[in-house]
Amino acid sequence: MATPDGSTILVVDDEAAVREVLALRLRDWGYGVELAADGAAARAVLDRARPDLVISDVVLPDASGLELLDLLRGPAPGRPVILITAFGSIDAAVEAMKRGALDFLTKPLDYGKLRSLLTAAERRLERQRETTRLERRLRGSPGVGGLIGTSRAMREVQKLVRIVAASEASVILTGESGTGKEVAAQAIHRLSSRSAAPLVAINTAALPEGLVESELFGHQAGAFTGATTARPGCFEMADGGILFLDEIAEMPVALQPRFLRVLEDGLVRRLGGRREIAVDVRVLAATHRDPLAAVEEGLLRADLFYRLNVFTVELPPLRARLEDLALLAQHFISSFNDKHRVDVAGVSAEALDLMGEYHWPGNVRELRNVMERAMILAREGWIESVHLPPFLRDGSVARRRGIVLPPDVTASEAERIVVLETLAQCGDNKSEAARRLGVDVKTVRNKLRAYGRAAGRK
Ligand SMILES: Nc1ncnc2c1ncn2[C@@H]1O[C@H](COP(=O)(O)OP(=O)(O)OP(=O)(O)O)[C@@H](O)[C@H]1O
Ligand SMILES: [Mg+2]
Repeated sequence: MATPDGSTILVVDDEAAVREVLALRLRDWGYGVELAADGAAARAVLDRARPDLVISDVVLPDASGLELLDLLRGPAPGRPVILITAFGSIDAAVEAMKRGALDFLTKPLDYGKLRSLLTAAERRLERQRETTRLERRLRGSPGVGGLIGTSRAMREVQKLVRIVAASEASVILTGESGTGKEVAAQAIHRLSSRSAAPLVAINTAALPEGLVESELFGHQAGAFTGATTARPGCFEMADGGILFLDEIAEMPVALQPRFLRVLEDGLVRRLGGRREIAVDVRVLAATHRDPLAAVEEGLLRADLFYRLNVFTVELPPLRARLEDLALLAQHFISSFNDKHRVDVAGVSAEALDLMGEYHWPGNVRELRNVMERAMILAREGWIESVHLPPFLRDGSVARRRGIVLPPDVTASEAERIVVLETLAQCGDNKSEAARRLGVDVKTVRNKLRAYGRAAGRK
């Protein structure tokens, strides 16, 4: 049973005997108690004592409990109100629930039922208090440049982001998909002396190969078929500001020397152009791969890597900082309440527990999607387990946390565990495992062969 935790209950009833008996019980259970004989007295207590819960008779000398309900509940999300009446009327009960009463009891009171109702109310209040705490924390420190999180790992990242933002150095942002690399790049931009100039983002992996060059360097009219007008490239557009180069390891290798040259000389020449244009650009690069491994695999040229890698900021996966779950969830609740015109208060304890057991392969982006979906389903009140997607509710999957390594493993043993565990989590689908591991499927097959496991198709 949840402890009353110093909660105060206002009892509203015109019969002195009922008030006294209830007060005795409630004090006995550890609650503070305030008493009122009618609506006017209740009003006075509400102003003075701010009770956490209300138990009110439906029939009062100067008003009905139903009429008083809004007043008793107070501002959203509202305090729990339990109504009682001498004659059990289904209609009144239904009406009371519709108007936001927590529940309805008939006289003579069943104290067992009352107590379990209060326990449920107490749990709700506890979540409400936690939500208020989270909201206060979000308002007090909305994260560094929008990068939310108070876990140790995130505080390290935020510290580094501040240091890096104050410098002019190039940065490589690493971390799994959805960990907030782009958010971190925006934070660095916002906190830097270049914040008034643009942050221009380009993801060469998302562009058709033939377009990458002109997107980066710009082109003159007639430089190639289809180039009807001259266009500046990203470097020129980012002049004075920051170029965010997403998925650096996917940039065509053939273009990398040219990219490096612009960084070193600060001069860019459009395709088909003759003139060299001076640009003053700071580069932030991101990759979901291990950049050194990308260098070894020949995806990323070593000279470019060393030029960019003055600082590395590594965004930790969400499963490694589950302390941030509640705060991030509350952050998304605030933003989606406006966007979807819903009125969700917070995440219930049960739902939050389930979320804490999940391994979040898609990291904060996945959390964002899960929250958005849950809020559209719930519309108001609390996000409960039923509002979470099935894969999160299904214990067998939900309990599958991140991969746990035994202490003192060697690097090669750790790699073996990670590869095999990832493969198991993907239902033996090698291409999916390769994607999650950030390597190609051939690498996975070779590893499996080395581990003595059949490297079949898929
Ligand atoms: N620390 C954070 N605080 C607030 N929002 C975050 C944070 N981290 C991530 N997000 C949110 O999660 C989503 C994904 O973040 P982002 O696009 O920065 O990830 P990414 O690391 O660049 O992923 P990818 O490798 O897939 O491009 C965004 O909607 C962003 O708003
Ligand atoms: Mg990104």
